Amino acid sequence: MTETQSEPQPTAFPQDRTCPYHPPAGYPSESRGQRSVSRVRLFDGRTVWLVTGHAEARALLADPRLSSDRSHPDFPLFAPRLAAVKQRRVELLGVDDPEHNAQRRMLIPSFTVRRTAALRPRIQETVDRLLDAMVAQGPPAELVGAFALPVPSMVICALLGVPYGDHEFFEDRSRKLLRGPGPADVVAAREDLDAYFRELIERKRRDPGDGLLDELIAKQLETGAVERDALVRLAEILLVAGHETTANMISLGTYTLLLHPDQLARLTGGGAEAVPAAVEELLRYLSIADGLSRVAVEDIEIGGETLRAGEGVLLSTAVINRDAAAFEAPDELDLGRGARNHVAFGFGIHQCLGQNLARAELEIALPALFRRLPDLRLAVPPEEVPFKPGDTVQGLLELPVTW
Ligand code: HEM
Repeated sequence: MTETQSEPQPTAFPQDRTCPYHPPAGYPSESRGQRSVSRVRLFDGRTVWLVTGHAEARALLADPRLSSDRSHPDFPLFAPRLAAVKQRRVELLGVDDPEHNAQRRMLIPSFTVRRTAALRPRIQETVDRLLDAMVAQGPPAELVGAFALPVPSMVICALLGVPYGDHEFFEDRSRKLLRGPGPADVVAAREDLDAYFRELIERKRRDPGDGLLDELIAKQLETGAVERDALVRLAEILLVAGHETTANMISLGTYTLLLHPDQLARLTGGGAEAVPAAVEELLRYLSIADGLSRVAVEDIEIGGETLRAGEGVLLSTAVINRDAAAFEAPDELDLGRGARNHVAFGFGIHQCLGQNLARAELEIALPALFRRLPDLRLAVPPEEVPFKPGDTVQGLLELPVTW
């Protein structure tokens, strides 16, 4: 679509949040009377569609006329650093059906509700051990490094069969992959992780263990169902997606609960049955994976607009999850609301593969933290807690706490 003079200048995307748990104030939003599908402008001047309506988002995320293929020439890039890795194939997340389906089927058995339920004792043990260490060390503490990051990092390592002893290496490279800052950092991080997993896979071929990666080597790589480089890229996605996201939910969830003591009391005083609903509401409210990206491969009519083939489409999960047509009083944190139908894990074929695992981690980590440290509080004024910029997974850079 060409812009006419009567149209307002599209707002910039992405924008930083002004409060770490609210969507950026400058994004178009239906609550301010704006459309559910509107134009935004990227760093390179390109205009793309931004979807902010809940019904429209679910329709589009289930629509095969939108592609997730990162190597498509028109795939939208929302940060300059991403141009450097555009040509690199992204397994699963960046693949369309039918290929996507084949890759996903290979992994689904390891991420079912039953398989993740079996991991709960191990998650509990990890959480308890980290809390023991925090208590032994005494206040104050930096909660991202002491708790929020190690919990999911240890769990995904155990699940995949990746040695946790290497965590400083892969946490550093994951951070660079997601946040740069420059294109060279992203490329170097990719190359380091590629080399790491190539070597780990070779080591496991000689000396197998009992992780998911070992299982994929035996059942998929050795049978020729998947090639080694594809397995390397898959392992990277699982490792990065498996710890960065949940870590952000734990730290930002803790911060948000500390600033909403009435809601925190519902979590700590509500018994075990209050916990799953509380986690679901935090997922909706915080929407840390904001800005899902697609490219239209055919024309699509939606929300009174026509998305033309070749146009970029971004979906703001944070604004979508505050759509008043789907959630009553959407800007209120209400741990009892039973926030079903949110899109914090996406929707459609790419809906988060690790969602059962993430829920299990959050359902164990958050109540355990507040049970063990009932006097937990911020060690600095809330406005001094540093948070991540808008062009990456949302969360806190650090969370200074005391008790
Ligand atoms: C609270 C934490 C998490 C959040 C908010 C989250 C969010 C998301 C979202 C929004 C998507 C869809 C992306 C899209 O449609 O473009 C996604 C996909 C994915 N997530 Fe998660 N995620 C979380 C935790 C995890 C964990 C623990 C894993 C473990 C391995 C994981 C693995 C994946 C994978 C592999 C995909 C791609 C699925 C596919 O393309 O079929 N995520 N996640």
